[in-house]
Amino acid sequence: MRSPRRRLRRRLSCCSAEAASRALSKKLHIKTYGCQMNVYDSGRMADVLAPLGYTGTDEARDADLIILNTCHIREKAAEKVYSELGRLRAVKEARARAGRPLLLGVAGCVAQAEGDEVRRRAPHVDLVVGPQTYHRLPELLERLARRAGAGVLVDFPADSKFDSLPDNRHVTAGAAFLTVQEGCDKFCSFCVVPYTRGAETSRPASDVLAEARSLVAAGAREITLLGQNVNSYHGEGNDGRTWDLARLIAALAEVDGLARIRYTTSYPADMSDELIRAHGEIPQLMPFLHLPVQSGSDAVLKAMNRRHNADDYRRIVGRLRAARPDLALSSDFIVGFPGESEADFAATLRLVEEIGFVQAYSFKYSARPGTPAAQMDGQVPDPLKAERLALLQELLNAQQIAFNRACAGRVLPVLLERQGRRCGQLVGRSPYMQAVHVEADGALLGSVVPLRIREGLPNSLRGEAMGVS
Ligand code: SAH
Ligand code: F3S
Repeated sequence: MRSPRRRLRRRLSCCSAEAASRALSKKLHIKTYGCQMNVYDSGRMADVLAPLGYTGTDEARDADLIILNTCHIREKAAEKVYSELGRLRAVKEARARAGRPLLLGVAGCVAQAEGDEVRRRAPHVDLVVGPQTYHRLPELLERLARRAGAGVLVDFPADSKFDSLPDNRHVTAGAAFLTVQEGCDKFCSFCVVPYTRGAETSRPASDVLAEARSLVAAGAREITLLGQNVNSYHGEGNDGRTWDLARLIAALAEVDGLARIRYTTSYPADMSDELIRAHGEIPQLMPFLHLPVQSGSDAVLKAMNRRHNADDYRRIVGRLRAARPDLALSSDFIVGFPGESEADFAATLRLVEEIGFVQAYSFKYSARPGTPAAQMDGQVPDPLKAERLALLQELLNAQQIAFNRACAGRVLPVLLERQGRRCGQLVGRSPYMQAVHVEADGALLGSVVPLRIREGLPNSLRGEAMGVS
């Protein structure tokens, strides 16, 4: 079973050695679109390319290789990629004239879903690589260097990319992402993810724990476990049994030096009793949960092929809050799903009012080719979608501001993650995922410190180091 993987590794390390000598000190710029899983994948692509001599740069104009790590979830997200590729065509041509060639790659879900379309609409793209195949980037670059075949690799391979990714992780900010589960079997009628990311798979717990330890050794104090459907995690456990997410989190809570654990994104119907209980029992598990509901109308939820109705969602939230009374909730909403009536939309507003969200993402429904909802009757006109979105966002924003304001006067533990825009300012995260700005010594970066919250602003908090008047 393992020999093809070993062969691949040998081939890669051989390619890597050759390519490394050629590509020493080249610059890599990755532009990331979409979800946290893409952020994780971008980091891992940088890890894969580091042995070839690629170092990261924030400046696209300095790069020898630019990779767009793309999102396909809504039409707008995909179209953004094509307009960026159009812009980069001129840059690439200018660079070729100047004798400093620029390589262009497209990764992520647009690459997966429409690789051929990318090559047709943007023939100047050198590499197209799917979310399951980016561990083979060195091989593609090698093929390109030899001009031996097109640089396209978007299939779902039998070998797991995780077995081929380097062990060392790079942590810049005290907080890191760790993908534990990929793919989705839920087939919500509006969503492309089951087609672009494939069926649900979970990584073995031993791999997750090893990566977590390596992240902590590299400075991570907080880890967010990622999966398209993270709470349906069912990986091989260290005891030979299948572990669910609650069991995995309990094992991670034993990792020395790991102060905070989060997970995202969760499917409401998969919130098990054990996972709900974990929120009350595991102090490292942060009191914040992103739990997409999509709509407050039972008819719309049914047409969306969600496996919960509005009351199920209310009950799940009730149980979570019983386990962890200060749990803050975030969610995703779609307005203007086909057939959504005024009454359906009013039900969504009602649910939001009842639950109270501290943060949320809300979108106009976007018809995606190949998904069942794109064929449904009752498509809602765009101006009506826009009107509903504005109303929903007004309510959600008001809830977010109210929550932020209510934090004023409290002392919250904040993980300081990065320098702020102003000199001497650091930015961190509260347990509830709010950004917190504070004047503090840069030496505190990467640590969790108690801060007195002075002010709650619409999108952030202003904190003060304790003991400073
Ligand atoms: N579990 C996933 C959710 C996938 S997509 C995750 O990893 O986060 C994120 C959100 O995009 C969804 O919850 C949904 O609200 C929104 N979305 C997905 N498809 C959409 C579509 N066709 N139109 C509008 N919004 C969509
Ligand atoms: Fe998409 Fe529904 Fe899965 S939103 S990711 S099909 S849970």
